[in-house]
Amino acid sequence: MALSIVILAAGEGKRMRSARPKVLAPLAGVPLLAHVLATARALGPERIVVVVGHGGEAVKAAFPDSDLLWAHQHDRLGTADALAAALPRLPETGGLLVLCGDVPLLDATTLAHLADAAGRDEFTLLSARYPNPTGYGRIVRDAGGALLRIVEERDADEAERAIDEVNTGVVAAPLERVREWLPRIGRDNAQGEYYLTDMPALAVADGVPVLVIEAADTAATRGINNRAELAAAEAELRRRRARALMEAGVTLADPERLDVRGTLACGRDVFIDANAIFEGRVELGDGVHIGAGVVIRDAAVGSGAAIGPYCVIEGARIGANAVVGPFARLRPGSALADEAHVGNFVEVKNTSLGRASKANHLAYLGDAEIGERVNVGAGVITCNYDGAEKHRTVIGDDAFIGSDSPLVAPVKIGAGATIGAGSTITEDVPAGTLALGRSRQTIVGDWERPKKSKK
Ligand code: UD1
Ligand code: CA
Repeated sequence: MALSIVILAAGEGKRMRSARPKVLAPLAGVPLLAHVLATARALGPERIVVVVGHGGEAVKAAFPDSDLLWAHQHDRLGTADALAAALPRLPETGGLLVLCGDVPLLDATTLAHLADAAGRDEFTLLSARYPNPTGYGRIVRDAGGALLRIVEERDADEAERAIDEVNTGVVAAPLERVREWLPRIGRDNAQGEYYLTDMPALAVADGVPVLVIEAADTAATRGINNRAELAAAEAELRRRRARALMEAGVTLADPERLDVRGTLACGRDVFIDANAIFEGRVELGDGVHIGAGVVIRDAAVGSGAAIGPYCVIEGARIGANAVVGPFARLRPGSALADEAHVGNFVEVKNTSLGRASKANHLAYLGDAEIGERVNVGAGVITCNYDGAEKHRTVIGDDAFIGSDSPLVAPVKIGAGATIGAGSTITEDVPAGTLALGRSRQTIVGDWERPKKSKK
């Protein structure tokens, strides 16, 4: 049975009080809608239609994916009206699964049962039991437990508001039925909107079996309507990802203080200290040690490497057994070979640092190619920018760059060369030589310090 999935995402999300459409609000670093789309795709549908309205162009622009179909809801007249807007993009027959763009944590396993049911002549919906169901539509059942209807919070009486079983917003039904039911939904309710939640009552009236599947994982069914719920979802996702990492053998100093905003792949026996943040795609090899407060994005760290506390790393490759930080900054294009050391207050950009080379303190290495076993002293700066263009610095194996030396690029330091401390290097240095580029020290013996005059 061909499955179509419609994602309702046209709401403006008033309660978020944001200029941005709600479904673009970031959760774990990616828009809410991206989470829903990932789940929808995992179900292998024949098509996915996203209904947008408010800020629809921005939403479309954020998802240029060619597998998506878009529908536009002109006036925000409710969830049934939103689904109606998707009808022209859907086939006459087949199964339909409706998801909400603001319910991001549902997993494909939970939804698979609904996707299966979508093809049968039934109306299926996903419910959940919340200790505090305020704000959600309630599932009203008869004395025998059969579903009668769904009532929205604002239309519910006191007894209905006491019901703790809520509508998650996920429904499944055959398209032929949906096409029949949608035009029969009115807007005689507190909000004057066409409610998709009126559909199950129509199914009941038509004698179509109504199946309510109660979600086992209630936290995953939560909708996001305001910033507090967004933060709660973020915390939930954080817990889930931490749990998965621990199950995979990673040691977390504190699973509550780890953010994975993207994907994190870890080898064996990785240790991650408190407050580390991982963004984009990060890979950590076996035995990697990540210090407290490290922020790392789109990077690969080789096995046995240690990243000290408070490093900021982006777009870098770090070799095996390398030592970085504390307080180091690796910018895009940084490649540290095995056993390289980059210490505190060192910034590296678009630079390769060879095997066992060290820049242990206070340096800027930009647009440089540095060989093996090179020692870069404190205060060394590659002067890569002349105000107009960037230039490269090339340093050969076993070179020793004395402290406080600006290397004015383009410049080449040969293998085994030594730069005396405090040298401004403006010309190439041949291999094996000593370069000094500083003024000579003079000693004035016959000299007295000025004294304060007495008044
Ligand atoms: C909705 C359900 C409620 C359920 C809850 C679960 C209705 C009437 N109510 O309430 O029973 O408990 O979700 O999270 O369906 N949308 C549109 N166009 C519209 C209105 C909404 O596309 O005109 C989209 C929104 O972008 C959102 C979804 O539909 O993704 C739900 O809308 P929202 O306004 O958040 O409904 P809730 O009050 O949360
Ligand atoms: Ca909602």
